[in-house]
Amino acid sequence: MCGIVGYVGRQPAAPILIEGLTRLEYRGYDSAGLAVLGSSGATVVRRVGRVRELEAALPKRLAGTVGIGHTRWATHGPATEANAHPHSSEDGRISVVHNGIIDNAGALRARLGAEGVTFSSDTDTEVLAHLVARSGAGALEDRVVDALEQVVGTYAVAVLDADQPDRVVVARNGSPLIIGVGDREMFVASDVSALVRHTSSVVHLDDGELAVVTAKDYRTFTRDSHDTGRVPTEIEVSADDVEIGAHGHFMAKEIAEQPETVARMLRGRLDTRFDTARLDGLNLSPRELRAFRRVKILGCGSAYYVGELGALMIEELARIPAHAEAASEFRYRNPIIEPDTLYVAVSQSGETADTAFAVREIKRKGGQVVGLVNVVGSTIARECEGGIYLHAGPEIAVASTKALTHMGVGFALLALLLGRVRDLSVADGQRIIAGLERLPADIEAVLADEERIAGLATELSSADSLFFIGRVRGYPVAREGAQKFKEISYRHAEAYQTSELKHGPLALIEESRPTVAVIPDDELTDRNLAAAEQVLARGGRVVAISHPGVDLGPLDDRRVDVPRNEVELDPILLMIPMQLLAYHAAVALGLDIDKPRNLAKSVTVE
Ligand code: AGP
Repeated sequence: MCGIVGYVGRQPAAPILIEGLTRLEYRGYDSAGLAVLGSSGATVVRRVGRVRELEAALPKRLAGTVGIGHTRWATHGPATEANAHPHSSEDGRISVVHNGIIDNAGALRARLGAEGVTFSSDTDTEVLAHLVARSGAGALEDRVVDALEQVVGTYAVAVLDADQPDRVVVARNGSPLIIGVGDREMFVASDVSALVRHTSSVVHLDDGELAVVTAKDYRTFTRDSHDTGRVPTEIEVSADDVEIGAHGHFMAKEIAEQPETVARMLRGRLDTRFDTARLDGLNLSPRELRAFRRVKILGCGSAYYVGELGALMIEELARIPAHAEAASEFRYRNPIIEPDTLYVAVSQSGETADTAFAVREIKRKGGQVVGLVNVVGSTIARECEGGIYLHAGPEIAVASTKALTHMGVGFALLALLLGRVRDLSVADGQRIIAGLERLPADIEAVLADEERIAGLATELSSADSLFFIGRVRGYPVAREGAQKFKEISYRHAEAYQTSELKHGPLALIEESRPTVAVIPDDELTDRNLAAAEQVLARGGRVVAISHPGVDLGPLDDRRVDVPRNEVELDPILLMIPMQLLAYHAAVALGLDIDKPRNLAKSVTVE
């Protein structure tokens, strides 16, 4: 949830840390801080608020070439300067930044307090600084090992010692951490976006690993001192991918780039010889794919909603029972893991703690789990036995857009593959492939209608509460529409199955509570229309997300049409106007679109 950066090299560390923190701000943004080592020890500066406020507070002369920084999303204690990272030992020698949660922080605080340590924050992280400082070991890496031996919990940490100013020591357990390898300089970060301007050569640490990083070298090892000899890999992300460019917000950029990113995702994955999908990364043979009798999809938030769409696509195209569940619930209900079920974990970040725990639970019980993940090398991607990379490129806005579209495409590819090893005909395989090939142009066509959608969004933004309704394939679209709207406009938005309206929520319909209705051209169009008319008859206002040619009658003046694709793929396109409605409502309300209050991009804690 928070962001970590570190630098050891020959350039002044502070500007590099600030630049890295700015790129990581989407991970957490209630306070920020940095520590830079200089000739008179560590200079620590922390501020509540955004990185720009931290930057403004830096002393003019801050020349040190070794430092660490952090942007925070509060878990222990409110967003105050005292709770901002880095945290320091009492003598100021040790500085620590930390992502994750130390579960036994209460017990450790009590013990350290009894030993005479005075705490200056409410955080769990501060115990680490004191534990490192009180270790009897010499080298910083040994001190950090000593401290971590006493800690139960999840962490990515970066530690400085003013008495050993040539190094940063880092460790990972359940929270991502990477090292960027430069020319006589090294970088540390919780996320590649903080490094891409400097290097494309990165080392991913595994859980349980540490590294000692100096300007010239790094060494990776385990807590029991075994060298792990990790070598760098090249990342695909470029500096342009994490620049906002001409767009006012990252969310706008990410919505706009979908035609291009979807085309990229499909490249090489459509097999027109056998009219199927080519998904070698799944590591599953046709025989293995055929043997699955069920599919279970696990994800959180919007990823879960797209998982519901995926389940429908798999049932329709492969005719095997498929079901999506919130990973955050699954892991706590002692789930029955079946040998002939294919489990699919879906996550943009690949770091969502609840989804990662669900993966571990499945594996622990002997189940087979693959991932639909965007971030290459992320925890979930690595822990799954195979998967489909989404290739959406970095997604910076907290409200997910393009990654969700890519999840929809990923599920369509998986459904096509599962279908074609079963009874999906060649003709249907060709039909789905043709539909997938049309998607980039179809998305383009929806985006071309942005001005009109923006007008409707402005109208909707004045409502305190909204309904989003849809049924069957349209219901996950409605759920995602409501989710996007509430995340960034702070308006109450509730999704309902259109068929369920009359069983209760109709009582709430009135002019001030508009409804966004998903009314595609399919076998349910008439029923959807009838329900929308019931809303109108009770004085409600309706915006319809539909297809050209559907006679919407009285709803006609408030319609948004998306191109017709193939019925199984239509929901992917129906989600695009939902992104634009949410975005433009937030624009109309003048809100902080890329960094909505109380949220963080990747939820790496429970
Ligand atoms: C989407 O707009 C949300 N920010 C959120 O629901 C998100 O989809 C969820 O937290 C899962 O994240 P993940 O895809 O990185 O696992």
